[in-house]
Amino acid sequence: MPDSGANRRHSLVTGGAGFIGSHLVERLLARGDRVTIVDDLSTGQRDNLEACAQARFIEADVKDALPSLAAERETFDEIYHLAAAVGVQLVLDDPAAAIEVNVGRTSEVLRYALDQHKPPHVLIASSSEAYGKGTRTPFHEDDDVVFGPTSVARWSYGYSKALDEFLAISLHRSKGLPAVVARFFNTVGPRQLGSYGMVLPRFVQAAIASEPLRVFGDGSQSRCFCDVRDVAGALPKLIATPTAPGRVFNVGSDREISILELAKLVIRVTASSSEIETVSFERAFGPGFEDLPRRVPDLTRLREAIDFAPTISLEQTVADVAQFCAAGGIAP
Ligand SMILES: NC(=O)c1ccc[n+]([C@@H]2O[C@H](COP(=O)([O-])OP(=O)(O)OC[C@H]3O[C@@H](n4cnc5c(N)ncnc54)[C@H](O)[C@@H]3O)[C@@H](O)[C@H]2O)c1
Repeated sequence: MPDSGANRRHSLVTGGAGFIGSHLVERLLARGDRVTIVDDLSTGQRDNLEACAQARFIEADVKDALPSLAAERETFDEIYHLAAAVGVQLVLDDPAAAIEVNVGRTSEVLRYALDQHKPPHVLIASSSEAYGKGTRTPFHEDDDVVFGPTSVARWSYGYSKALDEFLAISLHRSKGLPAVVARFFNTVGPRQLGSYGMVLPRFVQAAIASEPLRVFGDGSQSRCFCDVRDVAGALPKLIATPTAPGRVFNVGSDREISILELAKLVIRVTASSSEIETVSFERAFGPGFEDLPRRVPDLTRLREAIDFAPTISLEQTVADVAQFCAAGGIAP
């Protein structure tokens, strides 16, 4: 039963109007939290918060909102830092801005948490891109990492997320900040935008419009897709796990599917008449673009910590995304 008094847990979600953030905010409200959202709506949308009227929404860049919250002497029990420049396409469009947002804001959030009288628990959203060009299957959190050269902008997203992880872990070790890193693998579901290069919403939009599904490369590269509602459910458990601070956790599904198979699945589930068209990586992203053939998480650590098991099948997710998309829920 939610507590309506001053004892209610107060949670801050940066990037809370985004895809994962909005699902997380719904979870936190449902369990009775008081929730504050900071989002500059650079890729997030107010519409994502239709079911979150009880949350306080601050439309601002994290760097501007934190000093205001500090001046108000606002305190939090938990901080989920999800705000970031997300996706390879966005990073390729303006690498310097993306690096500054990803590393700068994470540093500011961690410092803000440390400055609180009783530092809150902090969860930092990282990415499987932090595995760089790793070829091991599955990826384990403590694997060595090899990145491409700094002259290739595509790698800067992974580097920036790796730096975020260093910051969180080092401030845990040196200052005792209870910070945990969630390394998200491909997360999918309603409210994800296709316009930043995310594969599933792109496919579903194309299928609904009876347009060709554009598969990059030959489509044999594989990924593991986890429904956003399973991911959102895992985060409050992870942040509250006593052994989690100072550690990295893969978060996602370990069901592997090739991108070509994904395209076929989308066509099947949406009963679409679309064809599949292959497009070279070079044509899609420019010369020298490198994709990784496989990206499978080792979920042992997450299972041990919170007994995690995805509950929503990929077929169900595709059906839900199609329904959301058909209702006009995805911006072009
Ligand atoms: N979706 C995935 O598959 C995936 C995979 C790996 C990692 N991640 C990470 O998960 C987090 C959430 O990603 P998402 O998929 O929900 O993307 P998203 O773009 O929907 O969410 C990011 C949110 O942050 C906001 N934002 C960006 N910069 C901001 C700033 N400076 N100040 C305030 N708000 C800002 C955006 O408006 C947006 O609402 C990100 O940190 C991302 O790197 C996501």
